[in-house]
This record gives sequence, structure tokens and C-alpha cells, in this order.
Amino acid sequence: MRHKRVSALMAAVLAGATMVMATGALAGIANTRHNLSNTNNVADSNNVTDTADVCVFCHTPHGADITQTDNPPLWNKRLLTGATYQTYAQLNSASIDGEILAVGSISLACLSCHDGTQAMDNIINAPGSGGLDATGGGTNGRNFAWTGSPRVDAGGVGLLIGVANLGVDLRNDHPIGIEYCGGGFSGAGVGPCRDEDFRAPTRGAANSTLANTFWVDTPGNGTAGTRDKTDMALFTRTFTAGLGPSVECASCHDPHLEAGVSNGGAAGETFLRVSNAGSAVCLACHTK
Ligand code: HEC
Ligand code: HEC
Ligand code: HEC
Ligand code: HEC
Repeated sequence: MRHKRVSALMAAVLAGATMVMATGALAGIANTRHNLSNTNNVADSNNVTDTADVCVFCHTPHGADITQTDNPPLWNKRLLTGATYQTYAQLNSASIDGEILAVGSISLACLSCHDGTQAMDNIINAPGSGGLDATGGGTNGRNFAWTGSPRVDAGGVGLLIGVANLGVDLRNDHPIGIEYCGGGFSGAGVGPCRDEDFRAPTRGAANSTLANTFWVDTPGNGTAGTRDKTDMALFTRTFTAGLGPSVECASCHDPHLEAGVSNGGAAGETFLRVSNAGSAVCLACHTK
């Protein structure tokens, strides 16, 4: 009797473990609006019927776009040049301290869909053998068939429409390509910030592979001083004064993050690295 109970308990524990593993395998980008494949089952979103490949809409193992400086990783879409975009610098805000670079780095990757200028099935290396085309099929992409609720253009080539289409005028969006800290650090090394209204970032230890990597630890998530998924990522770019930490789209957003899934204690929403409840995203960087 007693034995039976123990083995029943063990079975329950094992079943629980299997469930956790199964959920783990399903969690992530597949359950988000960034799954543009025919495996997408997220309500109120769009996808194509042509392929079950999730990553291919953004990354390719071979033949990636390498035309830009600070190129996004293994990028599988045609990228526009930074000069295409109007930046926050052109707003001439009287209170801005930091230097704002032309749009580049990771932000170009997001904008290869979110500027609404080309079909989201613009794909350089299409799924399967022999599908390489450096133009990604041009503005209208690969002519995949789009289905789902109307977050893409009714004409159906697969352009993003609505609030998710930021356009090429980024003067009305939070600055990107902006050096963190109010224009970097005063004095040598990391911190203090030139503008004390910023939380000091962390820089990877000298001689480590993260030596030129910067991030802002979010309070209450992960381990302080360690680069966690829940930290605000800063992307190293070359400013007039030299290498520095830059705020880009993926500083605040992780494009792979499933909403509502525990991420080091916080829930991802609209691909935010931490929940923005209490404006936690803003307060991660701004001391206000
Ligand atoms: C909607 C676009 C999109 C899709 C789809 C996507 N990624 Fe990414 N991925 C990005 C962007 C943008 C970056 C760079 C920003 C960053 O580092 O988070 C990136 C970065 C990465 C990185 C390097 C940085 C890191 O976080 O480790 C890896 C590895 C990666 N992606 C793997 C994948 C895999 C595997 C898939 C498919 C299961 C996938 N991605 C699907 C947009 C995407
Ligand atoms: C392959 C095209 C593609 C790329 C690249 C891409 N996105 Fe998206 N994104 C989409 C689509 C499609 C949607 C769903 C449209 C909508 O929500 O209205 C979306 C939605 C979003 C949303 C809203 C999510 C919601 O629940 O409403 C955010 C935030 C977002 N993307 C951020 C990013 C960021 C940041 C990057 C780069 C790191 C990025 N995306 C790269 C296609 C893309
Ligand atoms: C400084 C932080 C930050 C940066 C940088 C940033 N975002 Fe966001 N973004 C947010 C927050 C916070 C929200 C959620 C706003 C809300 O809940 O209304 C958001 C929302 C969005 C949405 C969803 C809009 C909607 O209402 O459905 C999209 C799409 C998006 N961002 C794309 C981008 C892209 C593309 C970039 C780079 C060009 C970018 N973001 C840069 C913080 C940021
Ligand atoms: C990853 C760090 C980071 C996050 C997160 C962040 N910001 Fe910022 N923000 C900056 C930087 C850097 C600047 C440029 C400040 C400067 O150099 O003067 C800036 C500038 C601003 C400005 C001032 C622009 C000007 O003209 O002076 C406002 C307003 C602002 N952010 C609001 C927000 C809000 C609201 C949120 C949350 C939705 C947010 N920020 C999240 C880093 C961040």
C-alpha cells in the first residue's frame, strides 16, 4: 500500500516533469505574432500558408544580408540603408543630450518589416533547396499567400499596416541609435553617466568576450551584474567619441519572447524584455 502510494507520487512527479518539458519545447516565438509560418495559432494575427518554417522570415543559416555596418545576425531580408529613415535627431529636441546615429544595427532588422515598405515574405534564402535571391523577391517579396485577421494589407502582398507599421519617419518614436547615459560616461570606463538621470549600465568584464557589451540590469529580475534575458540590452556602436552603448529596438523588445511566459520572474508583453507594469521598462533606464 505504502509502496504503491510512493510510486503513484513518483509517477505524478514524472508526469509533471514531462509536462514542463513539453511546455518548454512549445514556449517561445512559435506562440507569438512573430510566427509567420502556417504553424501560427495565435488569435488575431497573420501568417502565410506556404511554409512551416518560423525562423526563415528573419534568419538564414547561409546567404544572409551583410550590406550594413553592425549588421543584424544572419539576416534573411533585404535591409534599407540608414539614410532612408528620418530620426529623432531631426526633431531638434531641446532636451536631448546624446548623439543620435543614422538608423542601423538591430533596429534595421525590425524595420525590414515594421517600416511597412516591403512585404514580410521578402526572404533572401527561401525555404528548401535552390531558393536564393539576394533581393528577397523585391518589394512584393515571394508572393506567399497571407491569411488571418487584417494586420497586413488587404491587397495581400504582406505589408504590415496599422499601429505596428512605424513607417520611415521615426521622429515620433522613442529615440533609437542614441548613445546611452546622456551621451556616454563622464571619465574613463563605465559610469557615472554624463547625465545622472540614467541608471548606470554594466559592461562585461575586461578580457571577457563581453568586454565591449553593455546592458542595464533591471531591478528585481535575474542576477545583478550578469547579462540576463530580462536586462535592457545595449548594442555597441561607433559614436563620434568612439565605441559606446546604443539604445535600439531590441533594447526594450526581445522579438522571440512569448507573452505571459515567465521570463526570469517577469511576464513578457508586446515582446517587452520585462513587463511594463508600473512603467518598469521606462524606469529600468530613466531615473525619474
Ligand atoms: C520576427 C523576426 C525574428 C524571427 C522570426 C526570429 N528571430 Fe532571432 N533575432 C531577431 C532579431 C531582430 C535579432 C537581433 C536582436 C536580438 O539580439 O534580440 C535576433 C537574434 C537572434 C539570435 C542572436 C541573439 C540571441 O538572442 O541569442 C539568435 C541565436 C536567434 N535570433 C535565433 C532565432 C531562431 C532559432 C529563430 C527561430 C526559432 C529566430 N531567431 C526567429 C529576429 C527574429
Ligand atoms: C518578419 C517580419 C517582422 C520582423 C523582422 C519583426 N516583426 Fe514585429 N511584428 C511582425 C508582425 C507580422 C506583427 C503582428 C502585427 C501586429 O501586431 O499588428 C508584429 C508585431 C510586433 C509587436 C506587437 C506585438 C503585439 O502583441 O501587438 C511588436 C512590439 C514588435 N512586433 C516588435 C518588433 C521588434 C522590436 C522587432 C525587431 C527586434 C520586430 N518586431 C521584427 C513582423 C515582424
Ligand atoms: C525605449 C524602449 C523602446 C524602444 C527603443 C522601442 N520600443 Fe517599441 N514599444 C515599447 C513599449 C514600452 C511598448 C508598449 C507600449 C504600449 O503598451 O502601449 C512598445 C510597443 C511597440 C509596438 C506595438 C505597438 C502597438 O500598440 O501594438 C511595436 C510594433 C513596436 N513597439 C516596435 C518597435 C520598433 C520597430 C522599435 C525600433 C524602431 C521599437 N519598438 C523601439 C518600448 C520601446
Ligand atoms: C534602454 C534604456 C531606455 C529605456 C528602457 C527607455 N529609455 Fe527613454 N531614453 C533613453 C535614452 C538613452 C534617451 C536619450 C536621452 C538623451 O540623450 O538626452 C531617452 C530619451 C527619452 C526621452 C526624451 C527625449 C528628449 O527629447 O529629450 C523621453 C521622453 C523618454 N526617453 C521616455 C521614455 C519612456 C516613456 C520609456 C518607457 C516606455 C523609456 N523612455 C524607456 C533610454 C531609454
